[in-house]
Amino acid sequence: MRTEILRVHPDCPEREAIAQAAAVLRARGLVAFPTETVYGLGANALDVEAVSRIFAAKGRPIHNPLIVHVHRKDDVHLVATGWNEYATRLAERFWPGPLTLVLSRRNGVPDIVTAGGPTVAVRIPAHPVARALIEAAGFPLAAPSANLSSMVSPTCAEHVLRGLDGRIDMILDGGPTAGGLESTVLDVTASPARLLRPGLVSPGEIEAVIGPILRLDGSGEDGVSSPRPSPGMMSRHYTPRAVLECTIDSGRSLVEELCRTGLRVGWLTFDPDEHFTPGVTVVVMPRDPAEYATRLYAELHALDAAGVDRIVAVFPPDEDQWLAARDRLGRASTPR
Ligand code: TXA
Ligand code: MG
Repeated sequence: MRTEILRVHPDCPEREAIAQAAAVLRARGLVAFPTETVYGLGANALDVEAVSRIFAAKGRPIHNPLIVHVHRKDDVHLVATGWNEYATRLAERFWPGPLTLVLSRRNGVPDIVTAGGPTVAVRIPAHPVARALIEAAGFPLAAPSANLSSMVSPTCAEHVLRGLDGRIDMILDGGPTAGGLESTVLDVTASPARLLRPGLVSPGEIEAVIGPILRLDGSGEDGVSSPRPSPGMMSRHYTPRAVLECTIDSGRSLVEELCRTGLRVGWLTFDPDEHFTPGVTVVVMPRDPAEYATRLYAELHALDAAGVDRIVAVFPPDEDQWLAARDRLGRASTPR
């Protein structure tokens, strides 16, 4: 199949382009589109055949359920039941935006969307292109990140193309995404609510609205010592092609050691004074968590494209605001 790329204005998407993309979705096709977090790969969430194409295109394991994207709060009932006080308060504060709520699944939602489970993950995205597309389609969109399964999520159309060219029908290219990391996934069927995946909304921001929640440790090692509450949270995930190693020190000795063995190394550091060494691509990362999130995947994609053999990343501090970045780095560096 040929993957068509349509440029759209990120703030005021052109009607014609959105109409074309919606027609592809109505014909059970797959359309990649920008959200405020990462690019998603959308299909009609209520159509088993359309959704099964997502799994085929990504090579996604069937036990990993999808997030359903709806246009407005009144549409949540199309896929979920059990709207409660947590959901009311969180939706009021964070929707549209990068928070995904796990609710009870409504009868009629295909098993393939929920991995056969009793719950469904729902969010209302904030990106104008995502919103226009869902509205024009006229049905909820199941949309995982638009990458091959277990690889780094895409933050621009070129990343999508690199992984999925020829495997999907269309990409709406609305430029780079602002958020850079995925949404926070929170189970509000439990009391207290349970954090299933750290994301752009920090636990502290959620707790300011609904009080204490159950947190994961964020070490990237759940599934070893603790139960795996979210079926999709595989310990190895979000991986670049190059082997990634994380350090809690400056990383300099590891970088030098790798260089001595002749490997080409990409180095994500916070230190602007790290000087150039032959064979090393130094990437000085921002010390602000939101700016870091915006850049992390883009830098991993760029280092892969540059053909480095190894990536060494200095771990960000063990603080609430850094939980999502630490989680992704931890999973991306889990030994094969
Ligand atoms: O920012 C995002 O969330 C992006 C954009 C495109 O919206 N989407 C995304 O989807 O990251 P995906 O498929 O890459 O990750 C979905 C996560 C997985 O960890 C999955 O296990 C979890 O959500 N999930 C989905 N449905 C669930 C459910 N019913 N119960 C628990 N976890 C669920
Ligand atoms: Mg993903």
